[in-house]
Amino acid sequence: MDKIVCANYEEMSAVAAYIIAEQIKRKPESVVGFATGSTPLGAYKRLAELYSCGYVDFSGVISFNLDEYYPIKRDNSRSYFSFMRENLFKYVNIRPENVNIPNGECADPEKECADYDGRLKRLGGTDLQILGVGNNGHIGFNEPREELPLAAGLVDLAEDTVKANSRFFEKPEDVPRRAITLGLGGIFSSKRVLVLVSGAGKAEIVKKMFSGSVSALVPASLLNLRGGVTVIADKAADGRL
Ligand code: F6R
Repeated sequence: MDKIVCANYEEMSAVAAYIIAEQIKRKPESVVGFATGSTPLGAYKRLAELYSCGYVDFSGVISFNLDEYYPIKRDNSRSYFSFMRENLFKYVNIRPENVNIPNGECADPEKECADYDGRLKRLGGTDLQILGVGNNGHIGFNEPREELPLAAGLVDLAEDTVKANSRFFEKPEDVPRRAITLGLGGIFSSKRVLVLVSGAGKAEIVKKMFSGSVSALVPASLLNLRGGVTVIADKAADGRL
């Protein structure tokens, strides 16, 4: 697992945006696995700027998001569908038919998960998977557990995660407690993985990721088991502040 340590969030975001843009320039029909959350916001803003100055073209890109709350209406401003539209897709020329996000309003989540995995398999996996990491080490919404699923599934969010996500919701009772997420199989199907970590709050988890051992109780540590993973951390997340 390679690690790039940047001076601050802005630098981390710029480096990440260039890596994503270079992937798309190299292969215009790239399948890009997008994450939501606070960490990639700066990178998405930079990516939109790189589009608006003509550096990168999204017309061939196929997006494949990691997860979505369940149940949630797509037009709910807190859905990951809205997140992607508001923070990236509305600024670039991605084709709506090329956008893949689990359907948080489906009636049959089991079927939705199987279909979502099937779609990813038919695409041959993602070319580049962008990941954030939860404070508890989750990737996607694969929360620490002794056994982690390979397949996409409907999962209960850990208490830590519900607490962390509550910052996006007005009332505690509105915070979703379940989500549809790609499993480890879908995430690991990617040819390349870019992990973004920022802020002192992530320093402990970054330390565990680079501790020299792996555990399903720290899902992000499992990324050590494959090649092609680059972690971009700012100094604070790298424990240097
Ligand atoms: C979001 C996702 C999550 C987040 C993680 C970190 O699609 O899959 O794993 O990446 O919870 O979130 P932030 O970036 O808000 O700290």
